[in-house]
Amino acid sequence: MTNADLEKIVETSDQWILERTGIRERRICDDSITCADMATEAARNAMAMANCAPEDVDMVIDATVTADYTLPSNGCLIQEKLGLVNAVGFDVVAACSGFINGLTISRGFIESGMYKKIVVVGSEKLSAFTNWNDRSTCVLFGDAAGAVVVEPSTNGSGILSTFMKSDGRMREWLWSKVGGTKHPHTPDFAWDGTDKIYMSGSDVFKVAVKEMGRACLKAIADAGVKPEDVSLVVPHQANMRIIESLIKRLNISPDKVMINIEKYGNTSSASVPLALDEANRSGRIKPGDLVLMVAFGGGMIWGSALVRW
Ligand code: ACO
Repeated sequence: MTNADLEKIVETSDQWILERTGIRERRICDDSITCADMATEAARNAMAMANCAPEDVDMVIDATVTADYTLPSNGCLIQEKLGLVNAVGFDVVAACSGFINGLTISRGFIESGMYKKIVVVGSEKLSAFTNWNDRSTCVLFGDAAGAVVVEPSTNGSGILSTFMKSDGRMREWLWSKVGGTKHPHTPDFAWDGTDKIYMSGSDVFKVAVKEMGRACLKAIADAGVKPEDVSLVVPHQANMRIIESLIKRLNISPDKVMINIEKYGNTSSASVPLALDEANRSGRIKPGDLVLMVAFGGGMIWGSALVRW
């Protein structure tokens, strides 16, 4: 869906969207494709890349706020679709930060020796959760999924540090009020968009810029490296201007930052693994590189992970 397509739906313009967000187009999956379908494809591709047999997977975590069902989890659906007969599947609900949270959980289980192979997915069908009458949000989001396989390493590669934080006092800046058990859909529900994504963009913007910068520095410090040692930053793709502020705060060269927001928009928990995969496939990441991932989302919740590739 291009910005021109959106001009036909709400009062907006390609120029406004591009200048304020950096987004030109986003992917919207059709009604026959579910969030778990996309998650399954991503997990399948990651497992193929990692030479990982279905029966060897111990755990599959799907980070998503747009799961197919409230019950069961996408994790169980992915498990069934891929025949991960020895695995446990579950979801992590942490909005745009979810992939970092999933990665951090996997790190704990792998480092403790409890599990050997964990598939971490970020998947979102945000189009189903978007208020298509609200121009301040509907131009931002897209559908996507990405995945990685996490396993023990012996050559110094792997996850060096992770950081997670949240602050529930800011929960109403980015939320979906109706549809949970506190405010369930009632028979006379007005279908006024309160069960879709609401965002106070400028509030979110300010705190995202500050906390993503801090999260990056924390992961770098905890790993005992310097900002200039980082080979590539893979930030959550929420807004080009947020990424530009991050570049300034970290004082790093823009060519050390992976940016693909132009093509996909904000895909929430899928955004970091999607960008990571594109960076990897295009040869931007080499063995031994330090890759810093950082994300921020509704909760508010944020986090970072530093990986030696
Ligand atoms: N087209 C044209 N005009 C628009 C549109 C649009 N699509 N949307 C809003 N406007 C108008 C507003 O009505 C307002 O008009 P007014 O001045 O007459 O009142 C004007 O543009 C400015 O609106 P702002 O909201 O102040 O615009 P801003 O520059 O803040 O950009 C944006 C909005 C893009 C949403 C920005 O605030 C942002 O990116 N925020 C952070 C988003 C984010 O990081 N989210 C975190 C993760 S998302 C997740 O967890 C799912």
